[in-house]
Formats: sequence, C-alpha cells, structure tokens
Amino acid sequence: MVSVAAHTSASRNDVTGEAGRRRTFAVISHPDAGKSTLTEALALHAAAITSAGAVHGKGDRRGVTSDWMDMEQARGISITSAALRIDYDDRVLNLLDTPGHADFSEDTYRVLAAVDCAVMLLDSAKGLEPQTLKLFDVARNRNIPVITFVNKWDRPGREPLELLDEIEQRIGLRPTPLNWPVGIAGDFRGLIDRTRDNTYTRLHRTPGGATRALEQTLDHAAAAELEGPAWHQATEELDLLDEIGADFDEASFLAGRSSPVLFGAALPNFGVSHLLRTLIDLAPAPSARTDTTGAPRPVEAPFAGFVFKMQANMDKQHRDRMAFVRVCSGRFDRGMVLTHAATGRPFATKYTQAVFGSERHTVDTAYPGDVIALVNAQALRVGDTLYDGPKVEFPPIPSFAPEHFAVARALDSGRYKQFRRGIAQLDSEGVVQVLVSDVRGEQAPVLAAVGPLQFDVVRHRMEHEFRAPVELAHLDYGVARRTDPDSAPVLHGLSGAEVLTRRSDNALLVLVHNKWRLKVIQRDHPTLLMEPLLAGG
Ligand code: G4P
Repeated sequence: MVSVAAHTSASRNDVTGEAGRRRTFAVISHPDAGKSTLTEALALHAAAITSAGAVHGKGDRRGVTSDWMDMEQARGISITSAALRIDYDDRVLNLLDTPGHADFSEDTYRVLAAVDCAVMLLDSAKGLEPQTLKLFDVARNRNIPVITFVNKWDRPGREPLELLDEIEQRIGLRPTPLNWPVGIAGDFRGLIDRTRDNTYTRLHRTPGGATRALEQTLDHAAAAELEGPAWHQATEELDLLDEIGADFDEASFLAGRSSPVLFGAALPNFGVSHLLRTLIDLAPAPSARTDTTGAPRPVEAPFAGFVFKMQANMDKQHRDRMAFVRVCSGRFDRGMVLTHAATGRPFATKYTQAVFGSERHTVDTAYPGDVIALVNAQALRVGDTLYDGPKVEFPPIPSFAPEHFAVARALDSGRYKQFRRGIAQLDSEGVVQVLVSDVRGEQAPVLAAVGPLQFDVVRHRMEHEFRAPVELAHLDYGVARRTDPDSAPVLHGLSGAEVLTRRSDNALLVLVHNKWRLKVIQRDHPTLLMEPLLAGG
C-alpha cells in the first residue's frame, strides 16, 4: 500500500509527468459511421495490433471490441464498454469504448464522464446523424472538447464545405479544418495539411487497407499537375477558409465552442495518423477534477478515481464483476487498500486489470487518465469514488431521463431471492434504474430505461446469470420528472401519473403517460415540483 506519507516530491513529479503523457478520449458516432474501423486503424498506426486487415469483419473484431455477450454478437452491436490503451510516440492514448446503439446512450454518458476529449466521427455521405447529435449534446453538457473526423472520404459523399456548414448551423460548433481533402468524396486523392504550411500528401490505397496507407509528399507545382482540377478546387476552398478565419483556436476548442476537423477514411487508413497527432498535440491531458465540495483535486494529489462502468460476467469461466475506474489523481499501485467513499469501507485492489477488448492483463501501476478494472467489485456502484489518504468524493454521474418503464416479476416465485439479488445487481451496474413504491411492493419493482433494448439485457441476464427468469410488463408511461415529498401525494392521486422512489439515490420520481399529460398537470397544478431529469434523455 502506498501511504500518503510516501508521496514524496519525486513521486509527485512522476505523477504529473505521467498524467501529462496521457490522452483519454472516446469516439462518439452513429452506428456504421466506422467507429470500430477507426479504432482499429488508430491501434494499427500505433502498432498496438499487427494488421488492421486481420480484424475487419465484425465477427473477427474480438481483439478490439467487447462483444462479450451472446446477445450482443447476435445483434452485431457493442453493448458494453471497455478501454483500449494505445502507446504511441511516448504518449499513452486511452480510448474508451462507447456503445453504438441509441438504447445505450446512458452507458455512453458515463463513458463521457470519464474522458477528457471526444472524437466526433461522421460519415461523409450522412453528416450529423441522430445518435451523433444526441451524444454530442452529452459532450456539450460536460464541456468536453470535440475533435471531428469526417470518415469514408474514399466513398461518394457530400461537399466538404457543406459538411462544415452543417456542423456550424446544426450544433453551433465552429469547425476549424486541420486538413483539407483534394478530390471529392469518392475520388480521394490526398490531404493538404493546414497545420504544416499546407503540405500536400498524396495517398495510395493499399489492398483492403491491410497495411499502412502509402503516403507521398508532393510540392504544390507537382500536385497541381498531377491532380488537375481537383487541386484547383481544393486550393480555392482553402483560400476561402483562410478568408473566413477558420483556423484552430485553442481556447474555443477547450471550451467546446470550436472543433478541429479532419477529413479521412479509416478503412484504407487515410488521415488516421493525422488524427493520432491531433489527439497528442491538441487533446487536453488529464487535469484537476472538481470534487463534491467544489474544490479541484490536482492530478498529483493522492490516488482518487471513480467508477464509470460496472460490468458482470465478462468471462463465462469466472462469473466475475468488474468496476471500471477512471484514475483522476495520484499513482495507483496494485495491492493498495483504498477507501470506498460511499461506505467508508476499505477496498483491497489485489486483483486489478487493464482490459484490452476481451483480453485482460494485470495492471500494476496506473496514473491519472488511465482506466483500471477492479475485479470482484460487488460493493461498488457506478459513480462511486475510491481514494487513498484523506477523504475525497467526486460528484455522482447524472443519469438520463428514462422513457421506458416495465414492472418486473419473477416468473418462478421459488426463485425470488435470486430475483431480488439480480435486480439489485443490475441496478448497481446502472443497466436500468429501479423504482419502487409501497403500492407496488418489493416483489414488483418498476424498471426504467432510456431505450427498450436495455430490457432485453435484463431478461437475458436475469435468466442466464441469476437463473431467475423475469416477466416484464410494459407500463404506459413515457416521461419521468423529479418531485419532492410535498408534491408527491398530490401527484400520486392524479390520473395518468404515479410516484415512485428511485432505489439508487432515494429520489422521488413522478411518471406520467406522455408530454401532453405532463403539460396539463403542470398547467392545473403550477406549484407542484416536476423538475426535468438530465436533458437529452
Ligand atoms: P461502427 O463501428 O461505427 O458501427 O462502424 P464499422 O467500423 O463497423 O463500419 C461500418 C461499415 O463502414 C463497415 O462496412 C466498414 O468496413 C465501413 N467503413 C468504415 N470506415 C470506412 C471508410 O473509411 N471507407 C469505407 N469505404 N468504408 C468504411 P461493412 O461492410 O458494414 O462491415 P464489414 O463487414 O466491412 O466489417
């Protein structure tokens, strides 16, 4: 165990230096925009895996993504979140996986609570898609700087200026392109690097993108001759960008008001190395995180971190439970005995792992920005703080407003004990929110979800993991609002409304049929508290 006293100035410098080497980020995108492909391409460039070609098919992606559940594989979506560490140029990039499906935006929200930067990945033909918009809102709520990567430039798509315009008009983020494509989407010739005196790099596709794309630097005269009209169009557009002053601006980027934009194609590995450089050069390193008292906790303070994801049953051989912890301050050494802020109890960290997709490695040390997975973490909940030394607690991760509700009952009443344990576990992992009331009773909790697919996860896990199959009866509610003990009895008596207690934090929530009914209640009872939960849900 590392005691507070052992934190000499040498180890503090060590922590500051190590934190400065880290970039912790997530990719936000709509399904199919190319997140898995980009992840692999980034890892390829950083030589973390030998050949991107080996992992192209979704079925073969086991090394990178976290397709650990049968159901997940059957649906071809990634539900769980894991972290991928990429070592590159004396830096450590921690890429936190975000589930692509809209129903799991709550998980993504938690991941975004654990990163310092996000890469917004767009399909060049589709621009801003619904899930991207929703996730971008979350990034904005958390003031996370966003780097934009416009992908699939090797395929027919939209005009680059039109895409920039869409970003600016629809989400109010000022785009500042770092590179500019030569050749329209679908006829990709190369990239002009605005950050390096407009250096032009011509790209040569390699079969299947299996190896690093071949790149050739050409001077402008040679480029003009070789690319012809495509070159002239690109340089005219560049002049326009210079005129409107679309240059990178650090302050507005860090404040989440502007976004550096890169064009490229993840599949043939075009422009991916520039994204890596951008992450290293521009993405912020871990910095002080504000605790519940409002005080910033510097990265060199003793160890503290918070759980942003709980995951059970990753490995069928060991029915284990892992807590993914984002390290916020200090150095983590395996074997440390930490304190669990919620209970004040000690938490031994003998079994700690770094997770690379479905592979695990034991981790011995970790620094701010890193993600560690604590095994056998039954006592922990999403949002919990673990610390060394004097007490510190980070604010809870706000949860999305649920829009789907169902009453859960054990199909086999003889298995009620397992049922109760399973529901409590899913609650602590944040798979669904669990709401209870005296009226409904303990045996029939209401499960609240952001997307209905979460209920499929509940059914699957209750049956296979807890051996307590459940019946879920859909409830005709679509809106949840926070209320208080004064308003609750009045609201509970109204038709089309019901008040329940959220088990995780004892918050009183009122469920209402729909937005119209909510409006009517608010009009008729203006003094009753019906406060929106987190926006975006
Ligand atoms: P996701 O994780 O965001 O859902 O997207 P994924 O990487 O699975 O990519 C979705 C599809 O888009 C894949 O094709 C992938 O090969 C393709 N793709 C990704 N990036 C690029 C790119 O830069 N250029 C081109 N042309 N295609 C790209 P698929 O046929 O659906 O899947 P697969 O069988 O190739 O895996």
